[in-house]
Amino acid sequence: MNAPVKAVLPFIDLQAQYRALKTDIDARIQRVLDHGQYIMGPEVKELEQELASRVGVAHCVTVSSGTEALLIALMSLDIQPGDEVITTPFTFAATAEVIALVGAVPVFVDIQPDTCNIDPACIERAITPRTRAIMPVSLYGQVADMDEINAIAVRNGLSVIEDAAQSFGASYKGRKSGGLSTWGATSFFPSKPLGCYGDGGAMFTEDTALAQAAREIRVHGQSQRYTHTRLGVGGRMDTLQCAIVLAKLERFDWEIEQRLAIGERYQLALKDMPVQRLAVRDDRNCVWAQFTVLLADAAQRDAVQAKLNSQGVPTAIHYPRPMHLQPAYQQYAPKWALQHSERAANRVISLPMSPDLNPAQQDVVIECLRRALTAS
Ligand SMILES: Cc1ncc(COP(=O)(O)O)c(C=O)c1O
Repeated sequence: MNAPVKAVLPFIDLQAQYRALKTDIDARIQRVLDHGQYIMGPEVKELEQELASRVGVAHCVTVSSGTEALLIALMSLDIQPGDEVITTPFTFAATAEVIALVGAVPVFVDIQPDTCNIDPACIERAITPRTRAIMPVSLYGQVADMDEINAIAVRNGLSVIEDAAQSFGASYKGRKSGGLSTWGATSFFPSKPLGCYGDGGAMFTEDTALAQAAREIRVHGQSQRYTHTRLGVGGRMDTLQCAIVLAKLERFDWEIEQRLAIGERYQLALKDMPVQRLAVRDDRNCVWAQFTVLLADAAQRDAVQAKLNSQGVPTAIHYPRPMHLQPAYQQYAPKWALQHSERAANRVISLPMSPDLNPAQQDVVIECLRRALTAS
């Protein structure tokens, strides 16, 4: 087999997606250019209604990014300096960052080694009188153990914010990621399962008062024009980005089916290889925002990554260092061990994944991985 060429095997193929949706996306953009309501135009409400119905909740509030969605969720719950929010250290920085930004303390607890999602068994032990919320992350596109987490929250009077940045479209016991707790927060960063062409995000809740608070916070805390009833941020999502997401929804169900099928095909092909595949629980699916596997250790991971990259197979590490070992977050390192998070950070590697990855391209990745593993 010839070595693949980098240009034909992107890590995520956003151009192919645009080519497939060009007519709809261009028409949607043109409509915004024609009406000229670039801020809070009609597409904002249209998208919010459409997404609320897809997630199965009463309220959707679009915001300027996934990070802002998490931040506004915390602000709407009035999380105060000194409050504690329990979360996972094995995530993108935004999750812990927003907790620290409101002056609260991110309390890191360990993950399950087979799913890499937060371990509910570790949460209850970390609760103190100052705990206000739990912020699980539905990592790689698989929903965390939300029923267990919600039960802990109810027992202890806490709120739950699901960081669903990577899991929009995922199912959990017949329900949708984002609609499973006090707040669900997702990201429309271009590479996410539902992406826009810049920054964007959305928040989901059943709670009318919280939704109203979030709508105010995203426009500098205004309850009416120039009446600032609370502290807020500049957190609106552009009309143009909402229009692009609306166009992308046209084939989103197909994209999710593709993600599931491509993920399944990877999982099957990797069955006989010396890699640890992520466990996907029977009662949910994984929409594979990243298709990630675990290798033996950091040395093997680095060798395999170098080999794949040299063969034109792009890879990524999600994530190389858990939050409690990051310079800005070491102050939040807990007194208990976070061994599974630390081990996972040394072992994970993500392979090319997007709905437009075709079987021939996927076979190239699989074959190159097989060879890299034999050589490592
Ligand atoms: C788990 C997680 N949380 C939060 C975010 C932040 O989203 P955004 O980049 O839209 O601010 C991301 C995206 O990178 C993410 O992967």
